[in-house]
Amino acid sequence: MEIDIESPHSAAWPGIIQRYKRYLPVTADTPVITLLEGNTPLIPAVSLPRLFGVDIELYFKFEGMNPTGSFKDRGMTLAISKAAEEGAEIVVCASTGNTSASAAAYASRAGMISTVLIPRGNIAQGKLAQAMMHGAVVVQIDGNFDDCLRLVRALAEERPVAIVNSINPYRIEGQKTGSFEICQQLGGRPPDYHVLPVGNAGNITAYWKGYREFFYNGLIDRLPRMIGFQAAGSAPIVRGMRIDKPETVATAIKIGDPASWKSAVAARDESGGLIEEVTDDEITHAQKLLASYEGVFAEPASAASVAGVAKLSRKGFFPKGACVVCILTGHGLKDPERAIAIAEAPARSSANIHAVLDLLDRAVEARKRHSNP
Ligand code: F0G
Repeated sequence: MEIDIESPHSAAWPGIIQRYKRYLPVTADTPVITLLEGNTPLIPAVSLPRLFGVDIELYFKFEGMNPTGSFKDRGMTLAISKAAEEGAEIVVCASTGNTSASAAAYASRAGMISTVLIPRGNIAQGKLAQAMMHGAVVVQIDGNFDDCLRLVRALAEERPVAIVNSINPYRIEGQKTGSFEICQQLGGRPPDYHVLPVGNAGNITAYWKGYREFFYNGLIDRLPRMIGFQAAGSAPIVRGMRIDKPETVATAIKIGDPASWKSAVAARDESGGLIEEVTDDEITHAQKLLASYEGVFAEPASAASVAGVAKLSRKGFFPKGACVVCILTGHGLKDPERAIAIAEAPARSSANIHAVLDLLDRAVEARKRHSNP
């Protein structure tokens, strides 16, 4: 299919494999296991640049709009399709939650068994619910994500299973299509800065690959700088050392020994970019700003990219007019406990109109005072 650089959208979106097959390792014989992932909105910011005190063109690529609510679906459609082509019956992954939700969904469509290893007590409820509902064999490990990934590698030595973590190159191939969409949605140009959270580091690797492919194919005439953010308690790449006990409220990126460490550093250095850290407080603040000023509900890990833009804005990092794209990797609904913990508690009233009016009048006043300091 010819790529029309001006127009990413079609009335009947076929999913990323059909849309971008000339850039993907598929043939006419590859069965396409799809939930019509991709084609996610690139939402222009309306308030945050002003709040951050910068004059930039800021966009949110809302990957939470994928079928299972995260960017993982782009890589999973390809990984599961290739596993089906190769005759796999069982797929396995380690996950902080989103990969397991996506693997379970696509495996169920392909008629495969999925096995997911997750760190016990450390994944968001929505993600656990998804893996369970799609019928995965869910194993909660008394350990962290890095332990889960180590076990998955060992398991694959013992049993005929296909690993669908991002150490599977098809995952990276599928995820690179996010870059293609961004360039098309910007009318045939890349952003100046591509900002995203970094955990196991597959995604930064994939986006960088995607941009380079569009560049070498002459579809864009320059490359963006890749700007990654890790959570301060889980920042092995920033610190230059493995973290044995990673900590952060952003459980999706609570990873101490990223599998794609080297390629993340390459993406940073080849693009003239950065990988820095943001604190849990900065992540939480950014998640609330995004929800309350932009109307976009993203999960905590995703908000790390926005916290990063706020931090770099304070330092005067962005030149005036720069085009900045933040990847919002997962939907806020994935992690309702965290949202309820950080947002204002609901008010309670007796079932009486006067009580309700009184409460509303006071709440509206308080909101107005808050927005006009
Ligand atoms: N944001 C979200 C919402 C994620 O779920 C992840 C990773 C990342 C960012 C980081 O991406 O690992 O490619 O650097 N989640 C994986 C999982 C680890 O198991 O769902 P990365």
